[in-house]
Parts: sequence; C-alpha cells; structure tokens
Amino acid sequence: MEQPIGIFDSGIGGLTVAKAISDYLPNERFIYFGDTVHLPYGDKSQEAVLRYSKNIVDFLIANNCKAIVIACNTASAVAYEELRDRLKGIVPVINVIDPIIEAIVADGNHHKVGLIATKTTVESGVYQEKMKRRNPNMEMAVLPTPLLAPMIEEGFSEDKISHAVIENYLSHSRFNDIDALILGCTHYVLIRKEINAFFNGRVKLYDSTAIVAHKMKAIFETENLLSAKKSGQNHFYVSDLTDSFQEATSRFYDAKIKLEPLKL
Ligand code: DGL
Repeated sequence: MEQPIGIFDSGIGGLTVAKAISDYLPNERFIYFGDTVHLPYGDKSQEAVLRYSKNIVDFLIANNCKAIVIACNTASAVAYEELRDRLKGIVPVINVIDPIIEAIVADGNHHKVGLIATKTTVESGVYQEKMKRRNPNMEMAVLPTPLLAPMIEEGFSEDKISHAVIENYLSHSRFNDIDALILGCTHYVLIRKEINAFFNGRVKLYDSTAIVAHKMKAIFETENLLSAKKSGQNHFYVSDLTDSFQEATSRFYDAKIKLEPLKL
C-alpha cells in the first residue's frame, strides 16, 4: 500500500522517530508534521495537547495517510486513546509508549525501571499505569526533566552544560538502583550516549526509535500495509518555521532535510 504514513510531534524531536522508520522501512514515504507553533507540549495542559493532536491528525487523514504515528511521548500519553478510538476502522494509530513498555516486559530481566520525560508525560501517569498492567511487580522511579528538551533543541549535547544538567537529574537518589531507564521524550535520543556514560553502561536504555519502527513493521505486516516501493518524497511540515528549527533538523534527522511551513 503506497500511501504515506502520517507522523507528528510537537516540533522536531519526532524526527528521531521518523529517521528510525525511514532507515528500517525504506520503501515507506511519510508526511511529518511538527507543531512548532505550540512547542513545547511538555508543559501544556492535557486538554490543549489533545486539541492540537486532533487537528494535526485531521490534516494527515485528509492527506490520505494509511497510518498515524504519534512521534511524541507527551501526545502519546494524553491523546493516544482518543485518537485510536476516533480512527478505529479507518487507520491504525501507533504511539511511542506501548512499544517501549512491551520491550521492557519482554526483556524479563528488569526489576526497577526509571523514567525521564516531560512534566505532562510524567503527570499523566500513563507510563506508570501501563507498566503496572503488564507487570505489577515492576518498580518504577519517575522524574520530570523539563530542561532537557530545550537544552537539546538549542544544540547542547556532549559539552559541559549538558553534562551538568544530565548529572544533576540522573544522580537523584531514586535512580540509585534502577536497571533500566526509559528515555521518555523523543529529544533524549540525542543524549543517549551521555546518559549511558553517566551510568557506566550498567543501566539498559530504552528509547522510541528502533523499538517503534519494529513495532510499526509488525503492525503493517498484520494489516497488509507495507509499501512494495517508495513512491514520491517525504514531506516535513512545521506550523512555524524559523532558521533555528531548520538548522536543528540535521542533528535530529542525521541528514539535511527541508522544512516546509504550513498553518493548519
Ligand atoms: N517531543 C516531545 C516528547 O516526546 C517533547 C518536547 C515537548 O515538550 O514538546 O514528549
């Protein structure tokens, strides 16, 4: 099925998910929408994030997308159920939270899992609930880390500032005995190496790139949605285009891409 996949995020962080999908499923074409005018979602109310998400999904469906990927933990936490129900029987909706929970449970070796994410994601309690449902014995240690996404977006990684911020958050005593850590925000993939170094490789890290791409492939196989060949170009729309977003894309997507402005 050669229709595009619709992928959206609050901004450009979801490009890390889009990149993983395009690496793993190179025959797929997608329409990406980054809602930069409303960025960050991480400190908006649940009601606002839900409203923005519905609006974006209407646009993606009107553009003939065969599936929707919510490439944002915050929108996955507060809007997934409603979007899934709304699109039932029309197109599948994939969030970035369930595949991570499933991967941790499938690993079978974890006893205490940490979560770092935006305030809205942590306060939604969705990771905690979903984990409890899948494995009631799993302990969780959660911490909102609101400085990380803007820090990464501004280009701070692998330097003194990022080291200090990461150390400040992760040296919290609640993380002392974790054996896995969820990078619960699509931006955090860019500081994965630093986080790994902080824990000396002792803690297994889970993020929403390869895990989500693999889950998507499995869903596409079941639903007969895989494309046999790539037809046409990917499109990357943002609701507010600035030079700094354009500049930052190469860090998130690992290649030069052109953002197109689009007001919904
Ligand atoms: N990309 C968003 C997420 O994964 C974080 C950025 C934001 O707060 O908008 O939660």
